[in-house]
Formats: sequence, structure tokens, C-alpha cells
Amino acid sequence: MSMTIRAVDATLLHDLRRRVLRSNDPSAEVSDVRDDEPAALHLAGFLDEMLVACGSVYPSTSPLHPEVVTWQLRYLAVDEAHQCRGFGANVLDALCCAIVERGATEIWANGRDTALAFYRREGWQLIEGSEHLSPSTGLPHTIIWKSLAPSTS
Ligand SMILES: CC(C)(COP(=O)(O)OP(=O)(O)OC[C@H]1O[C@@H](n2cnc3c(N)ncnc32)[C@H](O)[C@@H]1OP(=O)(O)O)[C@@H](O)C(=O)NCCC(=O)NCCS
Repeated sequence: MSMTIRAVDATLLHDLRRRVLRSNDPSAEVSDVRDDEPAALHLAGFLDEMLVACGSVYPSTSPLHPEVVTWQLRYLAVDEAHQCRGFGANVLDALCCAIVERGATEIWANGRDTALAFYRREGWQLIEGSEHLSPSTGLPHTIIWKSLAPSTS
């Protein structure tokens, strides 16, 4: 069954964010202060009408190239029962396409170390020396980025 992706309000994603990224902790923070800013974009993936995947992007200064127009990816998550079927990659692609249309030439994220192999496959690079513990989860993360500039080759 193919997944349908559409833009949604961030509040619709709180439950999925909590289950997949916060061990379903009822007291965990699952929103970003920028969620309701007009330039933030939240994409959701549905199988029929069941929410199975999500991801959000926020305009942001690049930690690597502060001079370029860039966006931060957060809360990329796929329902555990539906992981490894390409849905995470599909949502990520859709987010990247949407921000390229808005002028982005780069995307960055704090990637949790357990997901770095996934991001590498999707063409992301690690910023050496940026390893840190996330203030919100205490889990090891690394700053990662991907160029979205048109290829010159
Ligand atoms: C990481 C995550 C978003 C990936 O989404 P997904 O739908 O499971 O992954 P996809 O099926 O799109 O993966 C694409 C490729 O990456 C691989 N992959 C997926 N997760 C991986 C992981 N954690 N480690 C290594 N490879 C991984 C898949 O096998 C697939 O490879 P293939 O194309 O050769 O088959 C999802 O597994 C998830 O929500 N994980 C828990 C939350 C999380 O870590 N989110 C990221 C926060 S920074």
C-alpha cells in the first residue's frame, strides 16, 4: 500500500512524536516553539487515514554555513510497525523538495546516533566533532547536514 503525504498542523503529530521519539513518556516535550510559525512545515504520511510517519522543518541558521538559506529537520519518525518500508525516506524527500522550492540550498539536523546509518544512506554527512547529548532526551546525537544545491556536474 502506498503512503500519502500531506501538510498538517503540528498538534496532529504530537502522539506519533511521543511514541516513536520519547518512549511514549506522557511528560515529555513533543513540540517546538517554532511549530506554529507560518514558515514551519509539518508533513505527515498516511496509509488510508492512519498516520504512520512524520517530519518537520523550520527555517534556521546553518551551523556549518551561516550565510546560506537553510532549514532544520526535527521529529522525523515512523511508527514502529511500519519502519524499514521506505516511509521515512519518502517523508524526508518530500520535506527536502518543499524547502528547495522555498529557496533552501542545505538542510541540517541533530541526528540521533542510532539513526545515522539511515541518514548516511540518504546522502547526509556528519559534522566531525559535533557529537553531543541531546538536552531533551539525553541521547547521543551528531550534527548532520545535506547539500540541496543543484548538482554542477
Ligand atoms: C530513522 C527512521 C525515521 C527511518 O525511517 P524508516 O521508514 O524506518 O526507513 P526507510 O525504510 O525509509 O529506510 C531507508 C533505508 O535506510 C535503512 N534504515 C532505516 N533505518 C535505519 C537505521 N536505524 N540504521 C540503518 N539503516 C536504516 C533501511 O533499511 C533502508 O535501506 P534500503 O533502502 O537499503 O532498504 C525510522 O526508522 C524511525 O522513526 N526510527 C526511530 C526514530 C528516529 O531515530 N528518528 C530519527 C531522529 S534523528
